[in-house]
Amino acid sequence: MGQTILVTGGAGFIGSNLVRYILEHRPDDRVINLDGLTYAGNLESLAEFVDEPRHEFVHCDINDGAKLDEIMPKADVVLHLAAESHVDRSIHDPSLFLNTNIIGTQCMLDSAKRHNIKRFVYVSTDEVYGELPLDDKSQLFTESTPLAPNSPYAVSKTGGDMLARAYHHTYGMNIGITRCSNNFGPYQFPEKVIPLFVNNLIEGKKVPLYGDGRNIRDWLHVLDHCEAICRVLDDGKPGEAYNIGGNNERSNLELTKMLIDLCGRDETFIEHVPDRLGHDMRYAIDATKIRDELGWEPTRSAWPQALEETVQWYKDNLEWSDHVRTGEYRRFMDQNYTNQG
Ligand code: NAD
Ligand code: TYD
Repeated sequence: MGQTILVTGGAGFIGSNLVRYILEHRPDDRVINLDGLTYAGNLESLAEFVDEPRHEFVHCDINDGAKLDEIMPKADVVLHLAAESHVDRSIHDPSLFLNTNIIGTQCMLDSAKRHNIKRFVYVSTDEVYGELPLDDKSQLFTESTPLAPNSPYAVSKTGGDMLARAYHHTYGMNIGITRCSNNFGPYQFPEKVIPLFVNNLIEGKKVPLYGDGRNIRDWLHVLDHCEAICRVLDDGKPGEAYNIGGNNERSNLELTKMLIDLCGRDETFIEHVPDRLGHDMRYAIDATKIRDELGWEPTRSAWPQALEETVQWYKDNLEWSDHVRTGEYRRFMDQNYTNQG
């Protein structure tokens, strides 16, 4: 039997891919897409679903408990993604991150508790574990690695993650937690490294590589992440966290060289800029638990093909990047969602 899935942050990068994934792969389910439309929310990413009866958009801030209480009774389950998501912004202004990612998550959990939501999945991040050293590749994050977040963003996500755990422990809510590594794919806001660098290279601008570029990230295609979130929703054990990763560690320098190659530029386009404050060295995920318990494996993340397709998507969708960077997409909102405030 189908269910109504409340997705928060469904106008953002992962959220819009997740809404599309659910509408395409789970024909019995409906989606309520709840998003506050910050600079990072762009419903143009779901333009083909404007008239889809199984997709309802609601313009709402997750810190607005009264409005959440109007929407929550319509949902069976919740996938909570809405968040401030960019580490660099959190370094400049931590308070917005704490308010949205911790207090906003508390508002979501409280409303879900009041309305007896059957299952609530909190989409966390591998950044809750802090960082791994470069010189010992045998070390990976497992679900029992102590949480040791380093950036204000990571601390705010850890707060939400721990609150979700506490609502299971204290109130018996059916909670799932996912901790995924860096995602790549279409519809990512061009402040994150891959779309930023691709857009710069297309426009003939240099790419700002932080520090020496030796920092490592473990890249996963966003649709593999979406599939994993749905597995955790359906079959994850109540109260448990699941790591999600693609076994695809790359240094930023290696990534940058691949992007330069795919965009037909050369290494003179690299601009070494001062390092990010407190820059985490290496993230690497052990995803054994979700593979063994829930049968999930990444199927769309293999490089170089998956990266090539992503770069091609940005080349083919310059207008999308342009609209999201300039705020021009709000015109699309005004034309198609006039009743949403
Ligand atoms: P994003 O910045 O692209 O999207 C965030 C969305 O949340 C936007 O649509 C924004 O409008 C919405 N939002 C922000 N504040 C809100 C508020 N107060 N009320 C309602 N909506 C609000 O982020 P993303 O990269 O798609 O990340 C989605 C989630 O996945 C986040 O929770 C993030 O921590 C987590 N995550 C991201 C990655 C990654 O690589 N991008 C990896 C692991 C986990
Ligand atoms: P980012 O996409 O911001 O994701 P996260 O900080 O969540 O991992 O950054 C990915 C890596 O790329 C990170 O090690 C920082 C680096 N980076 C740059 O070198 N230059 C940039 O302009 C940006 C945005 C990131």
